[in-house]
Amino acid sequence: MQLAVVGSGYVGLVAGACFADLGHDVIVVDNDQKKLAALNRGEVPIHENFLPELLERHRGTRIRFSDDLQNAVRASKAIFVAVGTPPTHQGEADLSYVESVARGIAGAIDSYKVVVEKSTVPVYTSDWVRKIILRNGAEHGEFDVASNPEFLREGTAVTDFLYPDRIVIGADTGRCAAVLREIYAPLVEGSYYLRPDVIPRPDRAQIPPPLIATSAKSAELIKHASNAFLAMKISFINAVASICESVGANVQQVREGIGTDTRIGSRFLNPGIGYGGSCFPKDLMAFRSVARESGYDFRLLDEVMRINEDQRVRFIRKVRSALWTLRGKKLGVLGLAFKGGTDDIRESPSILLIKSLLQEGCQVCAYDPAAHERAKEELNASIDFAETPYEAARGADALLILTEWEEFAALDLRQLRSEMKYPIVIDGRNLYDPEIMAAAGYTYYSVGRPAASPEPLPSAKTPTVGKKTHS
Ligand code: UDX
Ligand code: UDX
Repeated sequence: MQLAVVGSGYVGLVAGACFADLGHDVIVVDNDQKKLAALNRGEVPIHENFLPELLERHRGTRIRFSDDLQNAVRASKAIFVAVGTPPTHQGEADLSYVESVARGIAGAIDSYKVVVEKSTVPVYTSDWVRKIILRNGAEHGEFDVASNPEFLREGTAVTDFLYPDRIVIGADTGRCAAVLREIYAPLVEGSYYLRPDVIPRPDRAQIPPPLIATSAKSAELIKHASNAFLAMKISFINAVASICESVGANVQQVREGIGTDTRIGSRFLNPGIGYGGSCFPKDLMAFRSVARESGYDFRLLDEVMRINEDQRVRFIRKVRSALWTLRGKKLGVLGLAFKGGTDDIRESPSILLIKSLLQEGCQVCAYDPAAHERAKEELNASIDFAETPYEAARGADALLILTEWEEFAALDLRQLRSEMKYPIVIDGRNLYDPEIMAAAGYTYYSVGRPAASPEPLPSAKTPTVGKKTHS
């Protein structure tokens, strides 16, 4: 099928490349000329596993890049809208890009089209998009508006797209649902998985994936509710980790004990320095606003957000309790991206923590496998960037692990220690076993677990910061 995808960001580009791999012809539209030129030159503007392979496979044949929305709409049966929906000052989703794309689409409708929301949007957006398209000249019956939310995690977005837990199509007419079913048929009927050049199947994938057909409004809510629930799981375990710190229990053991209950599940129960990224923080605020507008005061979400912010404050306290004073201390930092496997630093807890540590007078030298360029734009020259984790640790008073990159869990501990001024590691992502770290000569602090050290630490209830819970 001929498809258009508007917006070539993390979501649009991945969706476009994956649709092409399913056998569709795709025009990806963007109004950023620099991005388009880079894409046409064969560059891949984001760090995403398997995306370079897919773009290489289909560029110039099944996938094209253009700034001409109108032509793309005329050529396509379905138009996926994947432009950004950033938060306003009040925390609502700013839908002005979606609105402007809807106006652009309206003028080009010349036969039946399905306009699909792919961006995360509040419930009722599909109604508004429909109204805007009608106001701008399209006729009833010439188009339908659907919601087809994505559940892609950055870093594994391509495999999440091709091996989804479920596909949700929110369509209010049979005609519109039929178009969406046809688009996803290679996945739902399983033919995609039989191809010799298929993108490798991740461990947990169930194939073929189920397709859930809902109304457009339900689909919009499914997206917000899913993200809010996942963020709630993370805040829940972070709160439990804080209690573990206070009483000297081990959150990894607690997590295993609760996560093996299949009703709860162990995924998204990793304690850390709080969630970040372009989705959870913004979507929670937006969902909170939508709920308020609809007359429901969703205070649970306030608490989820508060625990998340607190987690960073607690981490700074932990650094302080490990180093006593902060001014003039040299800190090595591993990880700038908001999570492992991506170069995205939007709402990255690591960047927020670095900014606080700089304000406290620390010096920072950081290493990240993918996010240096973006972090340099954000932090200017306020920190140093290292070429390896060992270089980041060189001469450091302590090393902070802030992003869960796999390579950070496999460091040569002997080499690392030889680089550091003092062998102190403060791990915001629980990547190491405290006993192994102590045996390797480190004083090691992590989240929700007792601190460990080759020498006995002053108190059994270390780190002491655990005593002060949020007030
Ligand atoms: C997406 C979703 O859209 C957002 O709702 C979701 O919650 C997170 O992911 P993302 O793909 O990360 O956003 O956005 P971004 O990387 O900002 O890309 C949006 C693209 O749309 C940009 O390339 C931008 O140039 C383009 N754009 C924006 C247009 O082509 N037209 C516009 O009017 C506005
Ligand atoms: C999320 C959703 O998972 C995805 O379904 C949706 O489409 C977009 O938003 P993403 O933001 O890419 O995806 O990353 P995700 O893997 O969900 O991680 C979000 C944040 O939570 C990261 O900062 C990560 O480090 C943190 N996290 C995640 C935890 O702290 N603990 C966990 O157990 C899982």
